[in-house]
Amino acid sequence: MGKTALPKKGEKHAAILRELKELQKLDPDYKKGNLFSLVYYLGEPYTKFLSEAHRLFFSANGLNPGAFRSLKELEKRIIGTTATLLNGDDSFYGVVTSGGTESCLLAVKTYRDYARKKRGIRRPNMVLPDTAHVAWVKAAEYFKVKMRLVRTDPVQGLNASHVKKKVDRNTIMILGSAPEYPHGLIDPIVELGSLAERRGVPLHVDACVGGFLLPFIEKLGYALPLWDFRVPGVTSISADIHKYGFAAKGASTIIYRKQEHFESQVFAYTEWAGGIFASPALLGTRPGGAYAAAYAALRAQGEAGYLQLTKRAMGAAKKLKDGIKKLGLEIIGNPLSTLFAYRSTDASLDIFIVADLMEKRGWFIDRIQKPDALHAMVTPLHEKIVAGFLRDLKNAVAEARKHPELSKKGQAATYGMMAHVPFRKMVKQQVTKMFAETYKISGKGLDLEASADTENKKPPFLERVALWLAERHRQKELKKIR
Ligand SMILES: Cc1ncc(COP(=O)(O)O)c(C=O)c1O
Repeated sequence: MGKTALPKKGEKHAAILRELKELQKLDPDYKKGNLFSLVYYLGEPYTKFLSEAHRLFFSANGLNPGAFRSLKELEKRIIGTTATLLNGDDSFYGVVTSGGTESCLLAVKTYRDYARKKRGIRRPNMVLPDTAHVAWVKAAEYFKVKMRLVRTDPVQGLNASHVKKKVDRNTIMILGSAPEYPHGLIDPIVELGSLAERRGVPLHVDACVGGFLLPFIEKLGYALPLWDFRVPGVTSISADIHKYGFAAKGASTIIYRKQEHFESQVFAYTEWAGGIFASPALLGTRPGGAYAAAYAALRAQGEAGYLQLTKRAMGAAKKLKDGIKKLGLEIIGNPLSTLFAYRSTDASLDIFIVADLMEKRGWFIDRIQKPDALHAMVTPLHEKIVAGFLRDLKNAVAEARKHPELSKKGQAATYGMMAHVPFRKMVKQQVTKMFAETYKISGKGLDLEASADTENKKPPFLERVALWLAERHRQKELKKIR
């Protein structure tokens, strides 16, 4: 079994640490700024400071606020600070969660239970734009709330009047994002707010990305539409400190305006043999280290620090967007923060080939679909890579134009096909099956990076799915013709 079995005898700490460092070599070299998502890194001294704060509360458990009072106090300070930033006040309610996904899950559970209690809703639905983060889809699936998806325009974003048509008497909540993940567009929260108020439906704003970004963009003098608690119809907001709050992983917040809503988030069970139990969020054990690092980040940055970081990230994002446009690519819509997507509007240029060629040059590029595009979340770390990135992108675009046949190879083939294969249910089944296989202990693990360029090599799993599906599709079509 090798490393997957417990060693008979404990190993030396130094040897274990060496082994862990060795494993890190499998990862992207994010400190160089070659990654455009997942990591919010501000250099070693700051990381060391956060780790020290984290370490102090390494063993502390927020499960019981009566025991670890320090954590309850930290949580109160974090929520108070975040609420103020979002233009709420100290009459509001909130908790620190383990991440954006937990915050999204909680909002759906809360409003479902609230609607059931107050309005007797038994067949709940939620109205959300198709650009809402996938965590909302997960929440709808977990909590059995039907999704009423509102189609957005890839350039104009969400039209609030389309949301209006989807709201009915079983709607338990409306969702807007500030900004949405795929293209970085801010949904029209003011319009959604008045609709929500008129219909008496809660409105949650997903500011998991924007919560610690948009307030500072506004303070820097950029024009932004209103999207936070200044909009009266907004009943709750989620904002992640582990994204643009530059904290350690494992820290998001969800904040409610009203106690009556928050009460539906609280789980309480009075008959358990283990004692009367109440919990404000999804987790049981809640990791103290993440709270401490989140608090440390807020105090260490302060308003001046966040303004500076935001200014730097906005500067880098502008340079990147300008440079990308100069290469003839299009920035989708009008993203007002540091998050954006870019695509090719020229049928002879496959943007997924560009992504493959950029990866060959050492960049880690996220692909999105509907429409096919590449994605970037820019942080101050990217200041130093702007010139190099644009140089490589220019070359990659030129090479992609010269070699359109590359769309049948590598990840371009995988993503291109996955995005367009018509039977979505089958794509889902196959992705699920193969994803599960990668979690088999004796399995090979996820191999999205492997290239399928060589004829004799087995293509990576997504590509195999896509190829298989495409072949099935072709066979079916042939049958129809015959
Ligand atoms: C808008 C939005 N909501 C929710 C999430 C989920 O956050 P997490 O990855 O911390 O669970 C993300 C993640 O990028 C996001 O962009």
